[in-house]
Amino acid sequence: MTAAVSPGSRFLPLPLAESKRTPIVVAGEGAPRVHIWQIGCQMNTADSDFLAESFAEIGMLPGAALEEADLAVLVTCAVRQHAEDKATGKLGELAAWKRERAGRSIALTGCMVGEHGSTLLRRFSHLDYVFDMRDPDGFFARLRDLYQGALQGPVPLPASDRLCTYLPVILGCNEMCTYCIVPFVRGRESSRPAEEIVAEARRMVDRGVAEITLLGQNVNSYWDPSSASDLPTLMEQVDRVPGLQRLRFLTSHPRNASDRLLSAMADLSSACEQLHLPVQSGSDSCLHRMKREYSVRDYRAILERARARIPGLALTTDIIVGFCGETEAEFEATYQMLEEVEFDTVHIQAYSPRPGTAAYRREDDVPRAVKSDRLQRVLALQRSISERRNAALVGTKVEVLIEGRGADGRAYGRSRQGRLVWIDGPVEPGSIREFKVVSTTAWQLVAA
Ligand code: SAH
Ligand code: SF4
Ligand code: F3S
Repeated sequence: MTAAVSPGSRFLPLPLAESKRTPIVVAGEGAPRVHIWQIGCQMNTADSDFLAESFAEIGMLPGAALEEADLAVLVTCAVRQHAEDKATGKLGELAAWKRERAGRSIALTGCMVGEHGSTLLRRFSHLDYVFDMRDPDGFFARLRDLYQGALQGPVPLPASDRLCTYLPVILGCNEMCTYCIVPFVRGRESSRPAEEIVAEARRMVDRGVAEITLLGQNVNSYWDPSSASDLPTLMEQVDRVPGLQRLRFLTSHPRNASDRLLSAMADLSSACEQLHLPVQSGSDSCLHRMKREYSVRDYRAILERARARIPGLALTTDIIVGFCGETEAEFEATYQMLEEVEFDTVHIQAYSPRPGTAAYRREDDVPRAVKSDRLQRVLALQRSISERRNAALVGTKVEVLIEGRGADGRAYGRSRQGRLVWIDGPVEPGSIREFKVVSTTAWQLVAA
């Protein structure tokens, strides 16, 4: 295994690193156009939205197709090797794109920067800029400098037709689960002032947003820096924003899933009946090696309280199979927990060693074929559970916020529980009303 950079250095953002090989010639007329490519979690979606707004503010046109673009920006993820491979694959494709026309350039940001920093410029000779999302000012200052004459003040963004949006409330993570690179690439926890968050929520709703998801790697450790109030209090404040229809939050650590949080979910009218609570494993010994700081029993007690307090609650979770040292018995414990709990949706991943994490020092000793077999077994189990749980909804009513239309013209949206619902019959995007479930699969409902 390759030597890792000291984890401590990776808590600091890298404002801007730039290739000195080829001077970037500004070509073409009019505002420079930007193409944003993104992978990874909801945090990256929120970051891409922020980047688009920032480009528009300095006079560049975000939202361009790749063929038309002058600048391509890759917003990357480092949570598993596969995510990195996708970004480096995309970067490889961009070599030819860059050669096609003078003046094109490529920037890379997102979580791979926290991991690799400016070494990416050495690895990829056609990459021009690397910057950290935690400190993007240097990058924008450089672009302003470079494009000077072509920038003619802020570009008005088309009125957003976005109905559902993410609102970051706490950045970073202090948990240090032994398998996870996120604390290294996103830094330590830092909560935004509640006042600022509520003002932003108000602006979003004024622009037509109906559903807001409060976002953080560990969202339920949110702590308002001035009043010290917590996530349930923030939810109360956002719930009062006039016109907001739905409120969600992601992702919660079981350690901080308090009864106050469950009460906020039960009592606030906009709070949706959906709780994503990653468990990672159903074995106490495995959870201990992962440094998750709860037992399976603690975890299941929270689920029981949540189900009792919030009628119609949908529960979702994340599972890692094949973590270092995972025995067949430990895996069986996870399988059994999934069978007994019956989650609505489970995101299952095979363990991927991440440089710099505590688990990286242990041997990745579950063979690839065993990981894959365990993955397939839990996928099959969960498919049958999701199928059964959804089938039980036939004939009941679900409230759906219509988000858009599919390729076949049919409208779709999500229920309050977060289930994807296709609608038979004419309905307009943006509307919110009840429908009756007519048929289901493991992954979606059809209602009319
Ligand atoms: N903050 C969230 C999500 C972090 S990343 C949480 O606390 O759960 C999203 C998911 O990716 C994690 O829940 C975990 O299931 C998975 N994950 C993280 N590191 C991983 C790794 N090294 N290999 C495989 N899956 C991983
Ligand atoms: Fe990673 Fe754990 Fe933090 Fe989630 S809580 S981001 S899994 S370190
Ligand atoms: Fe990936 Fe970074 Fe999210 S590592 S999962 S994009 S916080």
